[in-house]
Formats: sequence, structure tokens, C-alpha cells
Amino acid sequence: MKKAEILALLREHQGFLSGQELCERFGVSRTAVWKVINQLKKEGYEIEAVQNKGYQLHLSQEIYGEAELTSLLHTEWVGKKLLFYPELNSTNIQAKLEAEKGASHGTLVVTDSQTAGRGRRGRTWESPGGTNLYFTLILRPEIQPQQASMLTLVMADAVGRAIEQETGLQAGIKWPNDIVVNKKKVVGILTEMSLERDYIQYVVVGVGINVGRQEFETELAKKATSLETEAGRTIKRGPLLARVMQEFEADYQLFLKAGDLTLLLDSYHKMLVNRNVQVQVLDPQGDYQGIARGITPKGELLVETEHGIKQVYAGEVSVRGIYGYV
Ligand code: BTN
Repeated sequence: MKKAEILALLREHQGFLSGQELCERFGVSRTAVWKVINQLKKEGYEIEAVQNKGYQLHLSQEIYGEAELTSLLHTEWVGKKLLFYPELNSTNIQAKLEAEKGASHGTLVVTDSQTAGRGRRGRTWESPGGTNLYFTLILRPEIQPQQASMLTLVMADAVGRAIEQETGLQAGIKWPNDIVVNKKKVVGILTEMSLERDYIQYVVVGVGINVGRQEFETELAKKATSLETEAGRTIKRGPLLARVMQEFEADYQLFLKAGDLTLLLDSYHKMLVNRNVQVQVLDPQGDYQGIARGITPKGELLVETEHGIKQVYAGEVSVRGIYGYV
């Protein structure tokens, strides 16, 4: 019997849930139930216990931790093993350590704050505590190394849809994997892979979502925002994370089925903000402009130029709107 299971049951149940019912459900003694309830209370849950009635959970504030997150997950394999840390240097670093120690496919590493959050191209990722989502999923996909970069786009698609469903905001994807709301960035994704000879040992997909209101430094403020700022209301981290995991599980299945992004193209294109927009391709071989038309099943951006359609590979180049970040 797990804390998370009791928590999930208490949350789903309106009113009091009798001790007897909990005992029967989990096949354990009343003392065992009482012990778990006490642990939950220690973690900050407000649980009322009344004789002859049982237990009732009062949902006042969000308690962000392993039991809470596990109790919200409705997935089959993604995040079923969840490792929560109040603070980490970086969930990507921790996930790689766990993967080296043998962590299974689908293990999720989550933290409340990072002291050395990492972004792409060696940048740092601002990671204050108590407000945002920072997590990394460990995958052991049986695919070719050259297919692995597509996993970033699979995650972007899942996160975009999860944001739309949980917040009602319109999420946009800035190819390949930034998520924007009202043209400002709210999500960054950093994928790293470990190879052994020519095989993928593991892939870690790290995601940072700016959820809570926060002050960004002046330069960042022009191009970054948070979900709460845009929605103008409070957004809970737990249900959003659970939704991302659910969407990712569904998308991953479609990705494996096709071996590429074919079955995700519709969903991805709906959110792609660069679509039919004039873009500047920052190519080490020389910059050029064109109109982005969409992505290929392999995740390359199709850019229509004077000299025909070009396929732009992520990683080599970056793409900008000609008037700004998007
Ligand atoms: C980007 O530069 O856009 C990617 C940012 C990725 C940030 C996330 S936060 C969770 C995970 N751990 C890290 O150190 N980075 C990623």
C-alpha cells in the first residue's frame, strides 16, 4: 500500500472515507492505514479524522512532492517510477546518473528547484523554487541514434497540448522545441543521449516550464513569460505535469508505430507558430530567409526560398522570425 494510492483515493472521494474501506481496499490493518495518514499529515496534508466516519482530505494548498505527483498520474509506464528531489543541480544531470545506475525506461526525475539548470547551447536555465516545473524523463528507446532528435519534437507536441488542456491558453511551438504563449517562451526542452557503440544506451528529455509568476531580467522579459502571467490565474504544477506525461505516453506510442513523426504531424503543425511565416535561418554556411512551410516526418523544417524548398536540420542552425524571437 502506497501513500500515493491512499492520497489518490482520498482526493477522488467526496466527503469521508471510512478506515474500514481503506483497510479492505488495500488488504491492510487499521494501524497501517493510520500510519500512512499520519505520514501524509506530516508532509502538510490537511486530513480530518472523525470517529465512526473516517478520513477526509481538505485540499487547500498544493503540496509538491513524490506522493502528490504519483497520485495524480494516470499513465501506464511514463513516470510510474518517479524520483522527487526538493533541490538538484539539474534534473538532466541526475537523470543521467540514474540511467547509468540502471533506471528503467519511463523513470521520471522531478525537482522543485535547480542550482545549475541547463539550457541548450551551453546556456543556463533560471530555476527558482516553489513555482515552476523542472523534470527529466529517462527513455531507453529501441531506435537508431539518428531518430533520437525526434523525441524532442514528440515532447514539444505533448507539452503544448498539455498546456492547452490544463490552462486553456493557446500554445505555440517555435520549431523545433520551444513552446511559446503570446509569442513569448514558456517552455524549454533539452534532450541528451548516451551511445554505446552504435546503440542508444539511454536518452534523457529534460523539460522546464515557467508556471508561476516571476520577474525575469529585463533582457529575458522581452521574450520569456509564464503560464500564470498569461492566464491571469493560479496554475497547479502537479496536474500539469501529470497531463504532460499522459500526452507524452500517447504521442510516444504513435512515434514508435510510425518510426517517425508522421502520425504527429497534424497536431504539431496546428501549434507550429513558424508555419507560413517569413523566417531567418541562421546557418553557419551563411544566413538566408524564406517562408517556413512546416516540418518533414523526420522533424526538419521546410523553408521555401528563392532557390526552392530547403530542409533545415535542428542542431545545425536556428530559426528566427524576421521581426523578433518568433
Ligand atoms: C532551452 O535552452 O530552451 C532548454 C531548457 C531546458 C531546461 C530544463 S529544466 C529541466 C531540465 N534540467 C535541466 O538542467 N535542463 C532541463
